Amino acid sequence: NRDKKNSFVALHSLSISTTQLSIIMSEEYLFSPDLISPNVKANLPKGYTCRPLSNKDYGRGFLDVLKVLTTVGDISEKMYLARFNWMKARNDSYYLLVIVDQNDRIVGSGTLLIERKFIHETASTGHIEDIAVAKDQQGKKLGLRIIEALDYVCEKQGAYKNTLVCKDHNIPFYEKCGFKRGQNEMTRYY
Ligand code: ACO
Repeated sequence: NRDKKNSFVALHSLSISTTQLSIIMSEEYLFSPDLISPNVKANLPKGYTCRPLSNKDYGRGFLDVLKVLTTVGDISEKMYLARFNWMKARNDSYYLLVIVDQNDRIVGSGTLLIERKFIHETASTGHIEDIAVAKDQQGKKLGLRIIEALDYVCEKQGAYKNTLVCKDHNIPFYEKCGFKRGQNEMTRYY
């Protein structure tokens, strides 16, 4: 017991930064890698792979990729891990996946949120969000693969439909991914 107490005190007296922590912590995925479509993986450019977001992706350029969408702001690794862990505690609803290149850099990302309803006999529905491909990687069908991968998860999780909101200039891209125009978007900003 004394040994245990001593090692506990020793650990807590060590002041380790989150960067050091991320080096020693083991890799954890947001959801099961079994949910990644084998077809998507097979159709990526050579050396690229698709997998769930990991607790170690802060250092692999994940947030840089999101910058093609909008302002990301100043996010520390501690903030990244706090949000990752929050999502992981809800990993039957939050599915963020990434495309990684041959140099272990993240070059694309997408989110699927699964919403549980009462209607349609307690049906589930998917919402696609934050599809992003690094500028220098666009036009290689990575966006299409991200959507296919999210669609695969959505269907496997039993949802009856998948929807998204996009700007007019992205409509042709989503039509190529098999989506059809639906209803109108209404928004209120806070
Ligand atoms: N207009 C017309 N066609 C397009 C467009 C476009 N804006 N973008 C892609 N396509 C076509 C491609 O030409 C290709 O067609 P093909 O099969 O005939 O060759 C097909 O769509 C697939 O294109 P990809 O190569 O997979 O597209 P890419 O990897 O460049 O990703 C994306 C597209 C995600 C829109 C990317 O350009 C991007 O990250 N843009 C900035 C961020 C953004 O706008 N994200 C979407 C926000 S909406 C949301 O998140 C729900």
